Amino acid sequence: MPKTIAITTPTGNVGSKLAGHLADRARRDELELILLARKPEAVKQWIGPGVRVCAGRIEDADFLVGATHGVDALYWATPNSFAPALSLRAGYRMFAESAAAAIEANRIPHVVHLSGFAHVDDGGGERSLFGALAESEAILADAIENLRARHPDQSYGITHLRAGYFFENLLGQLYYMREHGRLFLPVNRGRRIPMVASHDVALKAMSCLLGAAPSGRVFQGAFGPQDLSFAEVASSLSAGVGRKIRVHRLPSALIRHQLLKMGRDHRTTDAFILAFQAISQGKVAAEPTRDRSSTTEMSLKQWATIALKPLIESNEAAACPARVQYEAS
Ligand SMILES: NC(=O)c1ccc[n+]([C@@H]2O[C@H](COP(=O)([O-])OP(=O)(O)OC[C@H]3O[C@@H](n4cnc5c(N)ncnc54)[C@H](OP(=O)(O)O)[C@@H]3O)[C@@H](O)[C@H]2O)c1
Repeated sequence: MPKTIAITTPTGNVGSKLAGHLADRARRDELELILLARKPEAVKQWIGPGVRVCAGRIEDADFLVGATHGVDALYWATPNSFAPALSLRAGYRMFAESAAAAIEANRIPHVVHLSGFAHVDDGGGERSLFGALAESEAILADAIENLRARHPDQSYGITHLRAGYFFENLLGQLYYMREHGRLFLPVNRGRRIPMVASHDVALKAMSCLLGAAPSGRVFQGAFGPQDLSFAEVASSLSAGVGRKIRVHRLPSALIRHQLLKMGRDHRTTDAFILAFQAISQGKVAAEPTRDRSSTTEMSLKQWATIALKPLIESNEAAACPARVQYEAS
């Protein structure tokens, strides 16, 4: 029997690439794929033999339990969009509790959970993205531990795929890169963090989903070829695009004001500011520490040539065509 894999966020940065790879394998009868999408029309290009869509919101536990019945593996990523009354952490908790209900109800043997590289307290409490990701990890891992306790004769495992800062986040400032050759961030330009192409995170997620399921909780990094500072981001982008791109540090309050003026959600804006303050203060290090398996291939320079250069050189209106982290959809 081929494995049945369900994936969340099939239109997201990582999920869209993962969906493409897994749909190819499904067409070759190597697996069955279920796409969990709230807008089914957005994933219709992948529907066909071995691939079906279940349409619904993944924070709706009844929908999720029904849609993941009988699956062997689940790719779980938390969307950054929540009801207005919720804090960022409450939004993440709501998604994680829905996932936990499905994992336990359907006794899902393997969950690959997209998480982040930084596990530090940035002091943001209910506003913290780092806190939200850590809490999501704990809720999902508890569900797996409950299954292990209840069914000791079976194997259940979760892989927390802890990814670096996506290169794609930079696309939020496509307009400024194109028109002014500049990026503006509230960050100490000398601090290095792991940065990665979502393309490589998707490959890592696929290899976890297709590989043997772990027993219990494991952590897998996806960190790009090397940690980068934002000064190095500027030189890599310049080299990849073939024109000078500078990164400027601006005060957090100014960036926050600008983002809110542009219509960004205040919860994701605050989480972004808190994360960059922690990075600037040198509080943020990758966990697990970098090793061969967390070091991924695509460099920022390569990504800039393949993905950013065509966008910068296009004549289209200077709007960002890509989905950007921290933006509520
Ligand atoms: N960006 C980074 O640097 C970074 C690094 C590490 C970890 N992460 C984590 O990665 C996760 C996001 O992954 P991503 O960047 O691949 O995704 P993404 O591009 O942010 O896309 C999120 C997807 O979720 C879907 N969605 C939104 N609300 C939904 C709902 N209620 N039910 C079902 N689907 C819904 C949206 O699809 P439609 O609009 O088409 O419905 C969208 O495609 C976050 O949890 C983030 O913390 C990000």
